[in-house]
Amino acid sequence: MELTHALRSTGSIREFTDQPVSEATLYEILDDARFAPSGGNRQAWRVIIVEGEQRHQLRDLYLDGWHDYVAHLLAGSIPFSPLASEHERVAASSRRDDAIALSNPTGFAETIDRIPVMLIVLADLGALAATDRDLDRYQLVGGASVYPFVWSILLGAHERGLGGVMTTVLTLHEDRVREVLKVPDTFAIAALVALGVPLHQPTRLRRRPVEEFATRNTFDGDVFRVHS
Ligand SMILES: Cc1cc2nc3c(=O)[nH]c(=O)nc-3n(C[C@H](O)[C@H](O)[C@H](O)COP(=O)(O)O)c2cc1C
Repeated sequence: MELTHALRSTGSIREFTDQPVSEATLYEILDDARFAPSGGNRQAWRVIIVEGEQRHQLRDLYLDGWHDYVAHLLAGSIPFSPLASEHERVAASSRRDDAIALSNPTGFAETIDRIPVMLIVLADLGALAATDRDLDRYQLVGGASVYPFVWSILLGAHERGLGGVMTTVLTLHEDRVREVLKVPDTFAIAALVALGVPLHQPTRLRRRPVEEFATRNTFDGDVFRVHS
């Protein structure tokens, strides 16, 4: 697949056919994804391929987190924004019962234990180059040593006619996930990645144009446009 096309068309897939993904294909996807960049080339990722009864426990934890996510949407707030006020947090939790009532038995969260491939991607905290670790704000640099790897998994899956989605709501129950999968507490749960043969291909991805996020020289500088 041509790279530009892949970058512009790798959308989230949450519905899959019953077709299995072969171990050889999954191996190839991981074998390509391992070339992703990471701080200091520490390659801080670990992957657990979840095939057993742990899937049901992870589904329950995922669904619980998903209800919290939906509750935020119902309250009109950006789910889990680090800048959310106490008022927004309380408003979101007050909508949790409404979120549960909206649960759809055939939804992605409700059936996540049946996805063709379930990967849990971990971040080895001791290997991260988290250059913002001492700043007095929410920290995000550490994740950048793992999420390019996850994105490469999704690109590699697309290249092979598969699709999937990176999900993070499981981190809401990180301690429980660690117990279920026997993960040491020096590792963070970075993502649950679903993969399989897409039931439908996304048509056009909705993304903001360059002019909405790029400026020259300063944050409030001129909008970046190509000089004619
Ligand atoms: C960091 C990150 C976390 C995400 N977490 C979830 C998640 O927990 N559950 C989910 O269904 N999708 C999750 N997604 C997928 C996003 O919803 C998706 O990338 C976005 O809405 C764009 O959708 P599209 O690819 O269909 O256009 C996540 C994506 C990223 C990059």
